[in-house]
Amino acid sequence: MREWSSQNVNVIENPKAWTSAIPEPFRVPAAQAVRRFHEQVRGYEPTPLVSLPSLAASLGVGSIYVKDESPQFGLKAFKGLGGSYAMFRILCERLGLDPETTRLGELLSGEYKEKIAGIEFVTCTDGNHGKGVSWAAGLFGYKAHVYMPYGTQEVRAAAIRGAGPAEVAITDLSYDDTVKYAKRMSEENGWVLIQDTAWEGYETVPTWIVQGYLTLAAEAAEELAAQAVHPTHLFLQAGVGAMAGGVLGYFADRYGGDKPVTVIVEPTVADCFYQSVKAGDGAAHSVGGAPVTIMAGLNCGTPCSVIWPVVRDYSEFCISCTDPVAADGMRRYAAGLSGDPAVVSGESGAATLGALAAVLTDDSLAEARVAMGLGPESVVLLISTESNTDPENYDRIVHGAE
Ligand SMILES: Cc1ncc(COP(=O)(O)O)c(C=O)c1O
Repeated sequence: MREWSSQNVNVIENPKAWTSAIPEPFRVPAAQAVRRFHEQVRGYEPTPLVSLPSLAASLGVGSIYVKDESPQFGLKAFKGLGGSYAMFRILCERLGLDPETTRLGELLSGEYKEKIAGIEFVTCTDGNHGKGVSWAAGLFGYKAHVYMPYGTQEVRAAAIRGAGPAEVAITDLSYDDTVKYAKRMSEENGWVLIQDTAWEGYETVPTWIVQGYLTLAAEAAEELAAQAVHPTHLFLQAGVGAMAGGVLGYFADRYGGDKPVTVIVEPTVADCFYQSVKAGDGAAHSVGGAPVTIMAGLNCGTPCSVIWPVVRDYSEFCISCTDPVAADGMRRYAAGLSGDPAVVSGESGAATLGALAAVLTDDSLAEARVAMGLGPESVVLLISTESNTDPENYDRIVHGAE
C-alpha cells in the first residue's frame, strides 16, 4: 500500500483488495427514477458545469470542470437533493404507493395528506443536510427537528431555520454523538429519523438519501457527454461519504472500465475513509476525538455503511488534508484566473480543488501525481458542493489576510 505525504496533505493508494458489485440503487437506471422525482420539485434546475481552462493550464492538466451545486433549490449546497428524495420515499412507503409511478403533486393532494398528517422528522447535521431536510419539510408540509454538534456556527443554524419550518438546536456533543442523540429523540418521540449516515439496522433511509445525489452525478455525466468530454479523474469530498459513494457508484456503472480515477478527499482530523483504507481489513473504521476543521460538512468520523463497499472497491486514492488546503481551493475558485469564471465555493466545496492543486504543485507529492496519472492529458471533474454557506468565514478566508 503506497502512501505519500507533504506538510498538509496525505495520499494513500487504495489496493482494492475486495470486489463487490455496484448496488442496484446507485446504478444508472435508479438515477433516472430519482431524476424524474427531482424534475417535479419546484425550483429544480440542472446545475451548471463550469470549465476552468486557465486554472487547468496553470496547474498542468488538460481540463478542469467543476459542477457548481450551490444554486440547487436556492440552498447554496447540494444536500436538498438527498433530503427531498428520502422524504418522498418515506411518504410513499407509509402510503403504500409505488415511487416509480407516484407524482409529487398526487402526494401533496388533500386525499393523501390527511392519511399521513402529523409526521415529524428529525436529523443531525453539520449544516447543509439539515438545511435540505428543513427545506424538504416545508415542501411536503411537515415539521422537522434538527440537532447540530458543538462548535457549529450560529449562522448555519439560522440558515436551517430560514430554509423551512425546522426547530434547530446546537448540542454540546460531537457529530457522531449528535447522530446518536437524534436517533434517541426519534425513538422517544415517534419522530422519523432522516439521517444521511447508515449503520446496521438503519440502512433504508440513508440509501434513499444517497440516491438523491445521483441526480447531480447524472447531470454532470450528461453535461460532459453533450460536449464529448470523457473525464479521466474525479475528486470527491467526503464527510460520511453519502455523496461520494452515490456519485462514484453512478460513474462506475456508467463508465465501466473507463471509469475516471477517483480520489476521495477528507479533512485530516476526520479522515475515516483514509484510515479505513489504511487499516486494510476491508472494514469501515471510525475516527474519534473532538475534530475541529473549517470543512464543517466533511467533519464526520464514521463512514456511511451503505456506501463504504462502493468507496472501498471503486475508488483509487484517498487524500486527507488540513484546513489551509481547503482555504487554498476557495481562493483559487474565487480568483477566476485569466478569463475563467469565478466560482464561489465554500470550505467543504473547495477542498477537492485544494487537494488537486497540492498534488499537482507540491514536489513532495510528485510520486503521488505520477501514481494518479495526472498530467497534461487529464480531464478532471470536481464538484463544488457549497458556496459561501458561512459568509463571514468565507470572506475572511477569500478576501481577508488569512
Ligand atoms: C458542502 C458539503 N460538501 C460535502 C459534504 C459531504 O457529504 P457526505 O456527508 O455525504 O459525505 C457535505 C456534508 O454535509 C457538505 O455539507
